[in-house]
Formats: sequence, structure tokens, C-alpha cells
Amino acid sequence: MEGRIITSQKEGITLTARLMAHYRAQESKLENPLIIDPFAKLLAGDLSTYLKNHIRVSKMDYPIVRSYYIENRLLEQWCRSHKKSQIVLLGSGLDTRAYRFQPLRENHHIIFEIDQEGVNNYKKRIMTPFKPLCKLKRISSNLNSFEWIKALKKEDYNLNIPTFWILEGLLYYLRKETVRALLTEISRISTLNSQIFADMCIPIYAEVKVGPFSKYFKWGLDKNKIPEFFKNSQWNVSCKWADTYDRGRDVGQKGLIFIVGTKMTDKQ
Ligand SMILES: C[S@@+](CC[C@H](N)C(=O)[O-])C[C@H]1O[C@@H](n2cnc3c(N)ncnc32)[C@H](O)[C@@H]1O
Repeated sequence: MEGRIITSQKEGITLTARLMAHYRAQESKLENPLIIDPFAKLLAGDLSTYLKNHIRVSKMDYPIVRSYYIENRLLEQWCRSHKKSQIVLLGSGLDTRAYRFQPLRENHHIIFEIDQEGVNNYKKRIMTPFKPLCKLKRISSNLNSFEWIKALKKEDYNLNIPTFWILEGLLYYLRKETVRALLTEISRISTLNSQIFADMCIPIYAEVKVGPFSKYFKWGLDKNKIPEFFKNSQWNVSCKWADTYDRGRDVGQKGLIFIVGTKMTDKQ
């Protein structure tokens, strides 16, 4: 499991989830932001002491470019082109698309947010006063096991409509074997043409172990090996360096990869 810090609320909450919210809060203040997240500052909370001692990670463009890519290249089109769909955020952290991403108002979508209990409880408490733009279900689970799939099915997951799986900032925190099984499990409950987004790092990123992120990376995969890895679970994907979409930002010097694809067959 990732590094934890204790918040003033005496809860364990994943540091990386709060840092992601912090980056979105910073981005939202820029004159021409790539994304605007009005809830991010509230969710990030006060990280000033931590950031004073970790100046190198006080700003990070990669998660912002990743969010921008997902929202503008994939999710907007998905919401507009599907009359009824489900969007599952695995390792959803403090993501607030359910509350701020306007295309969700169109057609009928349901968002499932799945993360650890501590993260979800913290988020629930802060987000309670706000109304989501679409139906929202939150499931607390450890993604190292697949209990959450049962919970998902109990919580209105529909086996007969397309799903957009968003695995954003997640795969390198799980073991390779877990990811292999995870991709197969989600494939089993996905209709033909369901969509997937994930990101991955090259192996060296998982080996250097510096800072609050790569310190916890368990593995990486070379870009040319990714399509085969996903194909084994019936996902037909293509890979692009995050740098292709950097918009002038620093996104990792060809070390981080965006993976996009669709389910090759109907449910197995
Ligand atoms: C880097 S954060 C990304 C959060 C969110 N997707 C975003 O972009 O803001 C990684 C998230 O994955 C979750 N995570 C990592 N390992 C997990 C596990 N084994 N079970 C459940 N959640 C996990 C963490 O709690 C954290 O919220």
C-alpha cells in the first residue's frame, strides 16, 4: 500500500491522492488552466509543512496533462456518444469529475469511484454538501483482491451497457500479477467496445525509488510490450508517450505512457 500521512482529522489518507488534488488546485489558479477543479483545494487540505520539506514535488505537470488528456480527448466524446453508460474510476482518489465535468449532464451516466476506505471516508465527509452531476456510487476496497467486483454488481453495475474504465495513476502501485488479473476481471464484465484508459511507467522509473511517487512504484513496462500485455486480457490498446500531449509542460521525458483502447469481444 502507498505511503500514508495522518491528517488533522486523525484519518489515514493516501498522500499521493492529496498531492494530486493539490496539483489540481494549483492548476485551477492559473490564468489559462488545462483543467479547473473547484473542489481540489478543499480536498487537498493543508500540505504546507509536507511541501516545505519536499520542494521537488510541490508542483507536477504530469497528472494535469493526464487529466486534460482523459477529459478532452476521451471522456467528453464518451459522454456525448453514449446514451447510457457507466464510468468506473479505479483508484479514484480525490477525483471530482462526478461534480465538475459538465458533459456528464448529457445522457445517462453513472460513475463508480473505487478506492481504499480511508480515502473514501475522507472524501465523503468533505464532498457531502455538494451534489454530483450524475449518479455516483462509491465503493471502498483494496484493489489487491477482487471483492469490489461483487460490490460493484450489487451497486447497479450493468453488465449490458458499455463501461469506460479509468485507471489513472494506479497500475504501477499494484503488483504486475495483480494488474494482469485485474485487467482480466474487468474485461469479463465489459461489453464489446467498452473503453479503457490507464497509464504506465517504464521499468527504470520503478527502480529509482525517489520521492513520494516512484518510491512506491512496484513495476514498469516498456512501451512496446504494453499492447501484448493488455491483449492477453482482451483489451486492444495503443500507447503514446505522455510527452506527445505535454502542451509545454514537463511530463517525464518519455518515461510515462498513456494507454487507450477498447474491449475486443463481448463479455467472456
Ligand atoms: C496517484 S493516486 C491517483 C488518484 C486519482 N486517480 C487521481 O488521479 O487523482 C493513486 C490512488 O490509487 C489508490 N490505490 C493505490 N493502491 C490501492 C489499492 N491496493 N487499493 C485501493 N486503492 C489503491 C490510492 O489510494 C490513491 O487514491
